[in-house]
Amino acid sequence: MSRNLPSSINEIPTPALVLDRAALDGNIARMAAFFASGPCRLRPHFKAHKTPEIAKRQLAAGSCTGMTCATVGEAEIAAGFCDDVLLANEIVTPEKCARVAALARRVRVTTAVDSLAGLEALSRAASEGGVRIGVLVDLNVGQGRCGVEPGEAALTLARQAAQSVGIELRGVMGYEGHLQPVRDRGERESRTRQAMRGLVHTANQIRDAGLLCEIVSAGGTGTFDISGRIDGITEIQAGSYALMDTDYGAVGVPFEPAFWVLGTVVSRPARDRCVADCGHKSMTKDHSLPGVRGINGAKVTSLNDEHATIALPPDSPIKIGDRVELLPSHVDPTINLHDLFYVVDGQTVVDVWPIAARGYLEHRTKMEGPA
Ligand SMILES: Cc1ncc(COP(=O)(O)O)c(C=O)c1O
Repeated sequence: MSRNLPSSINEIPTPALVLDRAALDGNIARMAAFFASGPCRLRPHFKAHKTPEIAKRQLAAGSCTGMTCATVGEAEIAAGFCDDVLLANEIVTPEKCARVAALARRVRVTTAVDSLAGLEALSRAASEGGVRIGVLVDLNVGQGRCGVEPGEAALTLARQAAQSVGIELRGVMGYEGHLQPVRDRGERESRTRQAMRGLVHTANQIRDAGLLCEIVSAGGTGTFDISGRIDGITEIQAGSYALMDTDYGAVGVPFEPAFWVLGTVVSRPARDRCVADCGHKSMTKDHSLPGVRGINGAKVTSLNDEHATIALPPDSPIKIGDRVELLPSHVDPTINLHDLFYVVDGQTVVDVWPIAARGYLEHRTKMEGPA
């Protein structure tokens, strides 16, 4: 390899994101195997890791219909390696709709809509670009974020989509985000089944009205094996499963942690405490403080900008200069803070993978444009 890679995990400058390639491949294979049987397929969410090398491994593992994205910037990167991209989000400004239209010239693009205003903006961009943009009517299945209500309101928007110039109605989506972290499996399952009833019923109403509804999209890492086995759901948008975080670890899904934030101990000011250089500028704390990997009895007690304070058993041999490995509570916002993954096989660094879609690319492009 021509790049200047650290040869061992001990040489990685900290704070850094470390990715365990074997654990990643195991998670990807497990999810692909689940979707290899039954009619529903997987459309992995790119927003979780924003890393083309990971996405390519997900697609290569099979059982996928394409990639899911949350932003136009992610979709533009995903179009470099995937020919079927779902933007599971509302795109409404003329500038972003024009970028979606430009993408539709290169790959099959489908976008969520939940308003006539959004639909009209996409339709205008599609006609100006001379392309067809696919849409899914986005339903509120209980999360209370975006989405029209299941039933009549969704059917009305579907009819409007079917009649819009440059628009192809492809189906419906309903993300049960509020149910992903429900710890109790029985409760998660019964509430998900209930939430998905409105989505599947609306898809049938749309078909009964003589309109196309080929895609019925839902699901995440917490509900993939519930929504993914419900009659009528055609694809699942899970993302976190590939890398995992401590929050999903507590939900009890069958995937293992495949990444962590590597830090260096910079202070051991007391027998029962050390401080490492990986604060919340290197990982989120929105779901909870991170876990500690591989040090018995250690617990993160606070994260500041550039400091992780870790409570230790008083006899711990940890000293200044030692490495610590912290397991973030939430995949997506942690990865978005970093430029690359150091990919390891045991103690050996085998590659670095750029997190190519991190941040908001439109601003970066402006900075890097011609002087
Ligand atoms: C629209 C949408 N679909 C799917 C997901 C599922 O992602 P994950 O599997 O990472 O929970 C998310 C996560 O926030 C989302 O916002």
